[in-house]
Amino acid sequence: MTEAKRARVVVLISGSGSNLQALIDGCAAGDLPIDLAAVISNRPAVMGLERAERAKIPTQVIDHKGFSDRESFDRALMQLIDSYTPDLVVLAGFMRILTPEFTQHYLGRMLNIHPSLLPKFQGLHTHERAIAADETHHGVTVHFVTAELDGGPAVIQARVPILTEDDAVTLAKRVQRQEHIIYPLAVKWFAEGKLCMRDGKAWLSDELLPECGYQIEANEP
Ligand code: GRF
Repeated sequence: MTEAKRARVVVLISGSGSNLQALIDGCAAGDLPIDLAAVISNRPAVMGLERAERAKIPTQVIDHKGFSDRESFDRALMQLIDSYTPDLVVLAGFMRILTPEFTQHYLGRMLNIHPSLLPKFQGLHTHERAIAADETHHGVTVHFVTAELDGGPAVIQARVPILTEDDAVTLAKRVQRQEHIIYPLAVKWFAEGKLCMRDGKAWLSDELLPECGYQIEANEP
């Protein structure tokens, strides 16, 4: 029996790369039918690059500071990504606003993870904002990337309770534990051909996913 083709995945990072690590660990455990083709960072010397090197994944740095505008950076980035012929592009803490040309090019084959229960709290500082808004729950969403910042169709969402003693740091830690569960799962679904974006919506095994994506409730604390 011939083994099914493994999905080629390029991961974009800007920092610590703990979500990248979750994907690396998933591969090492044999849970993820993907090949991590390359890790690309827009910042030099970040921990995510070390994680990739340790796992023997090719790395590239393309520093946005060397470009005069967003369009020329995104075009160069696209060329670099496409040289690895990925089936899927995974944004894992990639701290850049993307041009519509870029998002259109990868429409339906680019995922992002955002630390909030989208559509709540798009943008930055989500943990602080959720606490300040007296929310009872917070969480994280994996979604397809469209031209709208943190606005593409949701794939999966994990909810965690906000505890009275929480600050942004403790809450972020609780949310990150869920990130490392749901991102590999979404990537696995895509790699297995179960997850796709059609008519601007996310579908899992040919069923339309709910607006907020597949729901997971954390069984902690
Ligand atoms: C995560 O919190 C993710 O939700 C957000 O950026 C952070 C990246 O963390 N998009 P890491 O680099 O994967 O550790």
